[in-house]
Amino acid sequence: MGLIENDITRCLGDVGPAKIGCTKQEGIGDAGHIGSSNTEGGVGDDESLSSESEHECAESIGTDHNKYFRQCYRQAGLLIPWDIPGAQPDIVSLQNANPSFFTSPVLDVGAGLGNTSIWLASKLGLDVVAVDVSADAVAEGQRRFTAASEKNCKKGEERISAKFLACDICSPLPQALTDMDSFGTVLDSAAFHCIGGPVQQRRYVEAVTSLVRPGGHLVMLAHSDNAPDYGGQSNTMRRVSKEELHGFFNTASGWTVIEIRECRYCCMSPSMPGKPPRGIACAAYLMVARRLGD
Ligand SMILES: C[S@@+](CC[C@H](N)C(=O)[O-])C[C@H]1O[C@@H](n2cnc3c(N)ncnc32)[C@H](O)[C@@H]1O
Repeated sequence: MGLIENDITRCLGDVGPAKIGCTKQEGIGDAGHIGSSNTEGGVGDDESLSSESEHECAESIGTDHNKYFRQCYRQAGLLIPWDIPGAQPDIVSLQNANPSFFTSPVLDVGAGLGNTSIWLASKLGLDVVAVDVSADAVAEGQRRFTAASEKNCKKGEERISAKFLACDICSPLPQALTDMDSFGTVLDSAAFHCIGGPVQQRRYVEAVTSLVRPGGHLVMLAHSDNAPDYGGQSNTMRRVSKEELHGFFNTASGWTVIEIRECRYCCMSPSMPGKPPRGIACAAYLMVARRLGD
């Protein structure tokens, strides 16, 4: 993972200890583990991850990206690099400047532990559907969301609600998703750059295209080719170029790209033993595309 910034206050503000993840983190207690009761389609317990970054971590598990992510969320006592407090800061800034890019219902694709979904629902008041290939991530996202909703209620604010669904966006979509009203926005916070190879990427584009209504938006934050290349592309953490994004999202596939701007992908990284993880940022692109049609 290419680090372009190492200033925790600029990137994330004051960040407490991260709880779980794909990098073994000394000094993180069991209290932070996610539940792993659901064993949907995953891998055996004998696979373990203990490398230094999301990139190295991804390389170590091989090419099956679904297996990699399911296993990441199942490893107790590990740091999930993308488990930052709240949504990615540059997505929040984009929404502040252009609220019309974010309209209900919003599909949070590759929602992970639900941090972005909580922001969409509780800060923006949007209807949210969160999907992820890991059933463990979905269960933890649901748990965090419920906790956030109860907190809102205690403050006398409106109850928020969201649907959480375990599904692989690159496989035939479950009826529970296709039966829903089409989405005003698909928000992809660091999922596309994790999607397998060209075949899965094309399936991703087809799926997202089928789910967004004409005039709706795709907002995508993806690790960019401005980040250093540490040798080879991983199927679980690729560097995405502007050309690649234009190649996937264009008139032929049903999209017009409104903008692709440079931004930061903020993550947590292990620090010294006994110290809390630190915030880092990688070079990324933030793309906004509009769905063509009537
Ligand atoms: C880098 S994480 C980002 C998580 C979350 N969006 C965030 O910003 O915290 C990428 C997420 O995409 C999910 N993912 C990867 N491939 C997927 C697929 N084919 N279908 C659905 N989710 C997928 C992973 O399980 C993981 O939670």
